[in-house]
Amino acid sequence: MDWGIKNRLAKIIKPKTGRTVMLAVDHGYFLGPTSGLEVPARTIEPLLPYADSLMLTRGVLRTSVNANTPIPIVLRVSGGTSILGNLSNEGITTTIKEAIRLNVAAVALSIFVGSDHEKETLLSLADLINEAQEYGIPVLAVTAVGKEMSRDSRYLGLCCRIAAELGAHMVKTYYCDGFEKVVEQCLVPVVIAGGKKIPERDALNLAFNAVQSGAVGVDMGRNVFQSEYPVAMIRAVRAIVHENMAPEEAYKLYSSISGDEQK
Ligand code: R5P
Repeated sequence: MDWGIKNRLAKIIKPKTGRTVMLAVDHGYFLGPTSGLEVPARTIEPLLPYADSLMLTRGVLRTSVNANTPIPIVLRVSGGTSILGNLSNEGITTTIKEAIRLNVAAVALSIFVGSDHEKETLLSLADLINEAQEYGIPVLAVTAVGKEMSRDSRYLGLCCRIAAELGAHMVKTYYCDGFEKVVEQCLVPVVIAGGKKIPERDALNLAFNAVQSGAVGVDMGRNVFQSEYPVAMIRAVRAIVHENMAPEEAYKLYSSISGDEQK
């Protein structure tokens, strides 16, 4: 693999543990000012010390993250749809030139396997990889799931493998039963999305199960920033990902830090 790609990936997946806690705050690209991200700067700032990278759009990056912050950026470069339209009909929104200008560690794009726009999104991924590779920039493929699509290992395994076959350097998907197989057959590092907000204890279990099944970490959003105590939550997730802390211990950590946050 190209030196630049390896070096950028090492900014995201920490070589010391081989794991990563990515903080996803890109939801506004189709959800608008979603709960917890109404004023992104306010949400992001206290979480920065505990995130290994930030996944976001250029709009949030420019307006809400201080350029002096040394955090690696995973730039979402697909979009063009909203929650009111057909979500799978995404295209590429941001050029590689812009990604370079913003000094990103990786670019990210969603693929919609099994949707009306399967072919376009897969070819967009291939085009993005062809171009990003020219400049040593890794590509994170996000296996998006529509309402009508299942989230079982057969379907997610299909999406992840196709992304890897097209050349994605990392894949983000959802945790499911039989996740070990999904990870093994993906060929490149896998991170999980957290999905909709669930109770903290359940989200910690999810993170634990994912890394124990071979994921290199999480790219979590709502289960961190929609938590009542986001800092406590990301710190507990971090302990699971980087220290293999058991979920019950991590929940105790969450409770004790959130107690301190309350004081
Ligand atoms: C969705 O397409 C976005 O890429 C989100 O970043 C992703 O779903 C992860 O966020 P969450 O943990 O909230 O699902």
